[in-house]
Amino acid sequence: DDDPRIKGIKSKIRVVPDFPKPGIMFQDITTLLLAPNVFKDTIDLFVERYKNKNISVVAGIEARGFIFGPPIALAIGAKFVPLRKPRKLPGEVMSEEYILEYGSDCLEMHIGAVEQGERALVVDDLIATGGTLCAAMKLLERAGAEVVECACLIELPDLKGRERLNGKPLYVLVESH
Ligand code: PRP
Repeated sequence: DDDPRIKGIKSKIRVVPDFPKPGIMFQDITTLLLAPNVFKDTIDLFVERYKNKNISVVAGIEARGFIFGPPIALAIGAKFVPLRKPRKLPGEVMSEEYILEYGSDCLEMHIGAVEQGERALVVDDLIATGGTLCAAMKLLERAGAEVVECACLIELPDLKGRERLNGKPLYVLVESH
């Protein structure tokens, strides 16, 4: 994207080498949140893309999808549904496991939060291997929703996570190598 706001967004993402373990270049979005005008540019870019697309639900992935999802949902007039790590949601849930480098993890969604035929946007801060977004899409599709697109601030294209999304469109603001 050649929108002039993208440069500012990129400049506010702090890259922390060897966090949380050696070899990982952690993409820290907390520095972007400290610059309210840049945080606003970030939300605005997503809102401009998704308003008037008849999206009824924004699903945000724990934890950082909870920062970016709600302001987008409010601005486009959609509801917000949190997709949480296991045993956090109090009601009846559906679960979707996904494989990590070592072991597996799981996302859960409240049954009844999303209805058949809804149009959903999935929001997270970052796509790495794509396993998390893939599990999120499965939850929404099991509930009968149509996933319109996945949206992230950052993509690590070298990890080819996009290929795990079964052709579902992915929109990102920034690529990091
Ligand atoms: C990070 C990131 C995404 C996920 C992407 O979350 O915020 O949710 O990893 O990785 P993937 O594309 O390889 O699945 P993390 O696992 O750090 O969890 P947290 O947000 O709860 O800290």
